[in-house]
Amino acid sequence: MIDLTPLDTLYDAGRGEALPLPIELAQLYGPLRFPPHPQRPYVIGNFVTTLDGVVSLQVAGHAGGGDISGFNLHDQLVMGLLRAVADAVIVGAGTLRASPQILWIAEQTYRPLADVYRSFRAALGKPQPPLNVIVTARGEIDLSLPVFQSGLVPVLIVTTAEGARQIRSQHPSSTIQIEAIETAGSLSVRSILEVVSRVRPCEVILTEGGPRLMGDFLAEKQLDELFLTLAPQIAGRDDATERPGLVAGKIFAPQQAVWGTLKSIKQGGSHLFLRYSFESATAAE
Ligand SMILES: NC(=O)c1ccc[n+]([C@@H]2O[C@H](COP(=O)([O-])OP(=O)(O)OC[C@H]3O[C@@H](n4cnc5c(N)ncnc54)[C@H](OP(=O)(O)O)[C@@H]3O)[C@@H](O)[C@H]2O)c1
Repeated sequence: MIDLTPLDTLYDAGRGEALPLPIELAQLYGPLRFPPHPQRPYVIGNFVTTLDGVVSLQVAGHAGGGDISGFNLHDQLVMGLLRAVADAVIVGAGTLRASPQILWIAEQTYRPLADVYRSFRAALGKPQPPLNVIVTARGEIDLSLPVFQSGLVPVLIVTTAEGARQIRSQHPSSTIQIEAIETAGSLSVRSILEVVSRVRPCEVILTEGGPRLMGDFLAEKQLDELFLTLAPQIAGRDDATERPGLVAGKIFAPQQAVWGTLKSIKQGGSHLFLRYSFESATAAE
């Protein structure tokens, strides 16, 4: 049973053709559009943050996004919608370690809409689940996790040569694709996106972070839009625990401040669902 009220659209400056949403999603979310992006994938991010900017409580058993959103159903709706539209979902290894049971598919978000998400993907001509992409430099990845073992999603690990050696020493099954980029340490997002697009031709690429990977996307201007859920809780911080915000490992302001442009605001109770676009290096080429 769908126990969700429609989101209220308070502002919408969306451009582009409306995607063929099934009636249930159209009623709950309203139209979903992406601006034209000829010859290249459109890269979007999805995050949830508290009012005080915390994206992970960093408490064992409570480190994931659910504790940030309050396991909010509208947040799950939007997460599912974005996964349903994505050809690939990219996450950093830290996000996998914090939420080891996850598969990055729409059906694992707001479950009463699982069939609806599936029919939306079919209408988009995307019968396969999105490629689940894990990014790791070190390659210390637990290959016994469901994302690698369930057989429900195609998986790609993008890593360094050393990371690939580390992963191959676990004798991964041939269904896990491993692509090494010849650099040591942090991989450039541009090279990650190239590998992903080679493995799976993409119209829309979604990243669900985490903060370190998101910092790299923003630093290289490889993010077209951010879908940001603002959850009405104040999580707090103290000197003992580091509680990350949307970005870790990168400083932008004041010298290289990254400013977004507001594209839409939706409201579900006291949660806000914001959409911001960013200047993209790829769009400018
Ligand atoms: N609230 C939200 O919406 C949300 C969304 C996502 C994540 N989170 C939370 O954020 C926390 C994780 O934070 P995090 O910053 O550690 O997340 P992360 O960015 O997912 O993971 C960092 C790790 O990913 C790999 N990585 C990231 N960028 C890379 C690059 N450019 N090249 C090579 N490897 C790269 C590295 O893995 P190796 O160490 O293996 O080399 C790095 O240590 C978790 O608690 C998670 O639940 C919250």
